[in-house]
Amino acid sequence: PTVLVLAGGLSHERDVSLRSGRRVAEALRSTGVDVSVHDVDADLLPLLDEVRPALVWPLLHGASGEDGSVKDVLEMCGLPYVGADPRASRLAWSKPVTKTLVASAGLHTPRFVTLPQSLFRELGANQVLSTVTSGLGLPLAVKPSRGGSALGVTIVRTADELPRAMVGSFAYGDTALIEEAVDGTEVAVSVVDTGDGPHALPPVEIVTDGSYDYDARYVPGRTEYFTPARLSDEVTAEVCRVAVQVHRTLGLRHLSRTDLILDPAGQAQVLDVNTAPGMTETSLLPQAAVAAGHDLGQLYGAIVEAALA
Ligand code: DAL
Repeated sequence: PTVLVLAGGLSHERDVSLRSGRRVAEALRSTGVDVSVHDVDADLLPLLDEVRPALVWPLLHGASGEDGSVKDVLEMCGLPYVGADPRASRLAWSKPVTKTLVASAGLHTPRFVTLPQSLFRELGANQVLSTVTSGLGLPLAVKPSRGGSALGVTIVRTADELPRAMVGSFAYGDTALIEEAVDGTEVAVSVVDTGDGPHALPPVEIVTDGSYDYDARYVPGRTEYFTPARLSDEVTAEVCRVAVQVHRTLGLRHLSRTDLILDPAGQAQVLDVNTAPGMTETSLLPQAAVAAGHDLGQLYGAIVEAALA
């Protein structure tokens, strides 16, 4: 039986996805799994018909991958796949929806507003600036409300930086999320469920000399990672609890990664959750899995088994 890894696609995170796809395929092959990797384009349906996989692993990051649309096609075809179902994927793909749901579940997330580009145009930069900064203060994090790999994300420290940050965000989507930029320790917690419930892998602490932007994520050596994070046992247990609760609250399956900031008061502030976390050589889930003593091939094989069950 063949596992079909879908990678690439048409999103801004295409290159990352191709790297994730290659790494997962290599790891699975090392344990004897028959894997076929394909770059996804408009030929998805003929491809599924040709390969007739036992299972699909959509390693597609970004729009058209993480937004649930490819999963809709897989559901239609009656094919089992790794990861969240289309509905949960759609919820998690939206940062404002994720933040609202996790806040309703009693977790902390930085305060935020969303701003469609049309409203930004109508109100003008000055009014947006005064309204947003009077509500949320400075600094702010401006992000596309749907997106990944920190593309289109800007930290705004002074009011005059806001218009440029908005334009940067609108380059990746027509609604911006503007949230309080919380100072603190950046931590990512991956969650894996191979059939016995969601378990957190060791938290990864991210230390950059600037911001954890696209290059800092994917150029080896640009970022320092501490796995497990340099946290007390108590705080480690808390960030793991939060990540598992995010996974459950959004109804995710098999794997996810929650990115959060530990603020100066020691609260875990949820930034976002990824239903198709990066699996490249510099990505966080594989680092955490290795630190936990997993062989990646075995772990990915167990995920495949869980998705087939
Ligand atoms: N969106 C990228 C792939 C990540 O979060 O790892």
